[in-house]
Amino acid sequence: MQFQISERTPTVKEYNALRHLADWPVLDERMVEIGLANSLYTVVIEDKNGIIGMGRVVGDNAIYLHISDLIVSPDFQKQGVGSIIMKELLKYVDSVASKGTNIGLMCSKGREPFYKSFGFLERPNDKFGAGMIKVK
Ligand SMILES: CC(C)(COP(=O)(O)OP(=O)(O)OC[C@H]1O[C@@H](n2cnc3c(N)ncnc32)[C@H](O)[C@@H]1OP(=O)(O)O)[C@@H](O)C(=O)NCCC(=O)NCCS
Repeated sequence: MQFQISERTPTVKEYNALRHLADWPVLDERMVEIGLANSLYTVVIEDKNGIIGMGRVVGDNAIYLHISDLIVSPDFQKQGVGSIIMKELLKYVDSVASKGTNIGLMCSKGREPFYKSFGFLERPNDKFGAGMIKVK
């Protein structure tokens, strides 16, 4: 299957459509507009009918980098698309990270093996707690 990789920000509608497909809450459009505009790096994957996946890097571009919104439309999962997106995001990360940069992500339940294959460590471990979250 032919996929096109584009370094672009998805539209608000494309973003919310992907969130909906992933069973994540669809967000207020103004909030999405601001959030996406403040990304450090965003990549989308398209086929002939439109967007099928995306991922982005947010953070301060030096000390903290965070992989977020990695989503592949369910019809296209398990075909390597998520890995293509991760590789593009990590290329960006490598281009700005220095010794000591903290590269983080929030992992959906069950997706740990996917991220482990890209060198991420599972938490909790001997050094780190499980991590915590507060969602408004
Ligand atoms: C997580 C997610 C992005 C992965 O995307 P994906 O396109 O399915 O990822 P890939 O196809 O590259 O890899 C997924 C698995 O399929 C396997 N795979 C890749 N190509 C394959 C193929 N042609 N045939 C069968 N399996 C394949 C990979 O080995 C990988 O195995 P793993 O589950 O043991 O890690 C996707 O499941 C998703 O969008 N989920 C919903 C949103 C979400 O949870 N996002 C992550 C937030 S942390």
